[in-house]
Amino acid sequence: MPVITCIDDLKRLHKARTPKMFYDYAESGSWTEQTFRENTTDFAQIRLRQKVAVDMTNRSTRTTMIGQDIAMPVALAPVGLTGMQHADGEILAARAAARFGVPFTLSTMSICSIEDVAAHSPAPFWFQLYVMRDEDFVRRLIERAKAANCSALVLTLDLQILGQRHKDLKNGLSAPPKLTPATIADLATRWRWGLGMLGTKRRFFGNIVGHAKGVADASSLSSWTAEQFDPQLDWGKIAKLKEMWGGKLILKGILDADDARKAAEVGADAIVVSNHGGRQLDGALSSIRMLPQIVDAVGDRVEIHLDSGIRSGQDVLKALALGARSTYIGRAFLHGLGAMGEAGVTAALEVIRKELDVSMALCGERDAHNLGRHNLLIPEGFFTRYS
Ligand SMILES: Cc1cc2nc3c(=O)[nH]c(=O)nc-3n(C[C@H](O)[C@H](O)[C@H](O)COP(=O)(O)O)c2cc1C
Repeated sequence: MPVITCIDDLKRLHKARTPKMFYDYAESGSWTEQTFRENTTDFAQIRLRQKVAVDMTNRSTRTTMIGQDIAMPVALAPVGLTGMQHADGEILAARAAARFGVPFTLSTMSICSIEDVAAHSPAPFWFQLYVMRDEDFVRRLIERAKAANCSALVLTLDLQILGQRHKDLKNGLSAPPKLTPATIADLATRWRWGLGMLGTKRRFFGNIVGHAKGVADASSLSSWTAEQFDPQLDWGKIAKLKEMWGGKLILKGILDADDARKAAEVGADAIVVSNHGGRQLDGALSSIRMLPQIVDAVGDRVEIHLDSGIRSGQDVLKALALGARSTYIGRAFLHGLGAMGEAGVTAALEVIRKELDVSMALCGERDAHNLGRHNLLIPEGFFTRYS
């Protein structure tokens, strides 16, 4: 078993062990990838204030998200095609999260279905919904999530139309991969991945195929999204979906203070400040840079979560210190999954918890709830540079 000391170790193994088409799908942003890059470089600009001679015994990273007790302020973000990074990927990630004590969010565009994950996960998980034109299909998806005992609905608002990711077009991304000379040559060198895939039946979009009417070919993500996602999604429809679901609702993809106010008005339990990991609007600012103005606008009315760019426990600490209640990781857990399956996801969570715990101690903090601006050193003009 390789020695894993940081998320980058997992990323290198992920790249070596997973077909290029799927590694590239994970490790890319839209168009010039400016937003994708800045999500991480902006975190790096924020520094931590060292404090000494503070009692650092009895530290705790425990907290809650939407009232649910969790081991640390990190959830697994919804990620489409997770079951293509590693055979049965969603089930493995859900298990790792449940055993670790953090939430797992299942994407609408997962390979393993809602029912399949529910049957194999030791704890309830959250379901992420993309709103489709076919209202009946959306209603049935919500019913299926209820029947599977999902404890929150995460409604994603920033992908009604797909931001272009050049590599996916060049690689001919599809699930399962179409066999061309290039993919066959690539697959031949990823024998672990291939053996895993040969040993599972879960190779198609489990929530879609056999459930959505008139879907000719759901294997191509881009064409299916263009045909099926509802471009008319608005706040009125969001309010109706909230009623239809009737449980905890998290609105994901908020990057603007006015939108955050609307999300609070509609009665969301939480919002996720997110630019979809830099995969949608290229040129948008990083989530961490937008966070304080959203906290100022609605922090007293709705729980605020953040994702996009988190690769370490130090990043989690920075997000909390700027007012987020909790965070999500997308690529950081995918690297673990692609590297070593369930053990890799656990390793990713352990790396981040250790980094968070030790960094908190060195900042003179014992409880994640006490983190604040006083823990940070921020370059002048960092939050006001763009207006
Ligand atoms: C490969 C990949 C697929 C994704 N698929 C979805 C999805 O199906 N639904 C969704 O709401 N967000 C999706 N996202 C966005 C993530 O939920 C999350 O916002 C993002 O990964 C956070 O950024 P990070 O990867 O830098 O942590 C996806 C992200 C990646 C990297």
